[in-house]
Amino acid sequence: MLQDLFNKSRKVPFSDFVTYALYSENGYYRKGSHVEKNGDFLTSPLVSRAYGETLASFFLTKVIHNRSDKISLVELGPNDGRLMSSVVDYIKKSAPNIYQKLEIILVEQNINIHKNIANLLSNHKEKLSICATITDIEKKNNETFLFCNEFFDALTFERCVLKENILYIVNIEKEKKNISEVLIKAGDSLIRKIEEYDLQIEENFYFEFPILEYEKYFYELSKKFSSLHVLVNDYGEKSDFFHSSPDPHGTCRCFYKHKVSRDFYNNIFDQDITYDVNFELLSLVAKKYGFKETGFYSQSDFLLSNNILDFIPSQMIEDSNQSLRDFKKLVSPNAFGEKFKFIIFKLNEK
Ligand SMILES: C[S@@+](CC[C@H](N)C(=O)[O-])C[C@H]1O[C@@H](n2cnc3c(N)ncnc32)[C@H](O)[C@@H]1O
Repeated sequence: MLQDLFNKSRKVPFSDFVTYALYSENGYYRKGSHVEKNGDFLTSPLVSRAYGETLASFFLTKVIHNRSDKISLVELGPNDGRLMSSVVDYIKKSAPNIYQKLEIILVEQNINIHKNIANLLSNHKEKLSICATITDIEKKNNETFLFCNEFFDALTFERCVLKENILYIVNIEKEKKNISEVLIKAGDSLIRKIEEYDLQIEENFYFEFPILEYEKYFYELSKKFSSLHVLVNDYGEKSDFFHSSPDPHGTCRCFYKHKVSRDFYNNIFDQDITYDVNFELLSLVAKKYGFKETGFYSQSDFLLSNNILDFIPSQMIEDSNQSLRDFKKLVSPNAFGEKFKFIIFKLNEK
């Protein structure tokens, strides 16, 4: 294991390691899903369909104008499609006139699960397309609502640190069976990107820098869509610094069977590697490609102000059982409620 990663060089940037561990042929996100209660971690759409129904209600009441003949719904990184399924089932039931105009597009890089997505959404199959990358989507001139949950935290990132005014990136090095992290002076292109985004840097605080990925997605979106609303939900904060947490080691971490660690070099291919999104940086990238930020909320604020409590299944209240306790996690400050944020962007119509 890891040998192919070091084929060309004894040292590689941390970002290459993340790409290898998550997205290479045997990578974590190339297998069947581990995003499950019995897997490695749980996400909001899996906790309750009420989460997707709240997003659908937001889309119907606050986003869509119902002027166009066609409306596209796009999800990035849907995994098995459960979020999209609860969104479109709700629209079909409560706004058939809008449902009639919908086309549904799911962008999931893991082609091994496209069949599962198609099965789950088989009720909507005439409207459905599933692609592996955003570049496969044809250019759209109609109104589009794009959403994603825990997509940006799954992208590859660099790890950087400033020491005595010199910027370094973390590389990993293999010596026989041992893997170690080493600091290498950052190259000119990375330094130029840091200068371009102009957030502050605190010496000796490690930060994650997923800039090439962010730029790739916002660039692609700006080229593909002319009237676009984007709703991103993920964990993280807005920060004026490149780092977004008080921990000087940064936020990157692994999830393995619901345990969190920084043990990156064990369980390779069997654990997730992730980091907190710095929403300030995300917003600056979006702005660079013509998007305007129109809202930023904690998950609990967003869900409660969009009436998630109206979507609690009555049976769940009667039972007052485990599923109700799970449901509370969506809005509880100590669970998903404050850690997760919603940010909303609009691509200015050209
Ligand atoms: C953390 S999981 C979240 C899954 C789901 N959205 C949820 O909330 O349960 C990240 C998902 O994004 C997908 N993904 C990661 N990078 C992607 C890319 N570049 N294009 C499309 N999908 C991607 C992964 O395969 C995975 O299904």
